Amino acid sequence: HFNDRINVAIDGPAGAGKSTVARLVAQKLSYIYVDTGAMYRAITWWMLRENITPEDQSQVNRKVQDLVMELIPGEDLQKVLINGEDVTPHIRSLEVSGQVSQYSGIEGVRSRLSHLQRQMALRKGVVMDGRDIGTTVLPDAEVKIFMTASVEERALRRFNELRGKEQVTLQQLEQDIARRDRLDEGREISPLRRAEDAILLDTTFMDIQQVVEAIVSHCRSHVDGE
Ligand code: DC
Repeated sequence: HFNDRINVAIDGPAGAGKSTVARLVAQKLSYIYVDTGAMYRAITWWMLRENITPEDQSQVNRKVQDLVMELIPGEDLQKVLINGEDVTPHIRSLEVSGQVSQYSGIEGVRSRLSHLQRQMALRKGVVMDGRDIGTTVLPDAEVKIFMTASVEERALRRFNELRGKEQVTLQQLEQDIARRDRLDEGREISPLRRAEDAILLDTTFMDIQQVVEAIVSHCRSHVDGE
């Protein structure tokens, strides 16, 4: 059925559940899942550890050109390696979440990661999630989805995900998400916005399975030549 492999771009704001959904969609289609947020997070953690601040753009650009990043599909989350070191355990921390918008607004970071992402999608059969996949990274993706949910609902989902792992209140998460929305939508290079040809999916009142089904059925109707 899926002999004609396609690329699927899933964009949307922080906490909409893109990663979970994208991974499940990829599983159903036997496609490769690429979590581009994890790539920006990995860079952020690496720079923080090297004590390179986002203000020091020339240093950031130099470092980002030099490092080697690999994505390894894992059981659950995909692994991110930088220069052979597995950085995955660090990239979901609040410290990284709080800083990632600063680093991901830097031109050299975006161009380097976008280049890597395009290479991963060359042979098709990729489900890629992020902020600028449908608009900038893969403007020719056959299926584009823009996933949203209300700020309250997204904060609640993150809260349930983090429960026990981080000391954080629902209110803090709401503030963090609203702040990241503003930064992601307001940045100059590749801001978060819906591609004109992306399907808008408001998931506030949908569960994960319903969202996955909706996206898979869009993919099916595309492959069936609708
Ligand atoms: O999806 P996430 O929360 O893991 O993404 C982390 C951050 O990375 C997010 O605040 C914005 C940035 N990002 C980006 O600028 N472009 C992408 N394609 C993916 C993520």
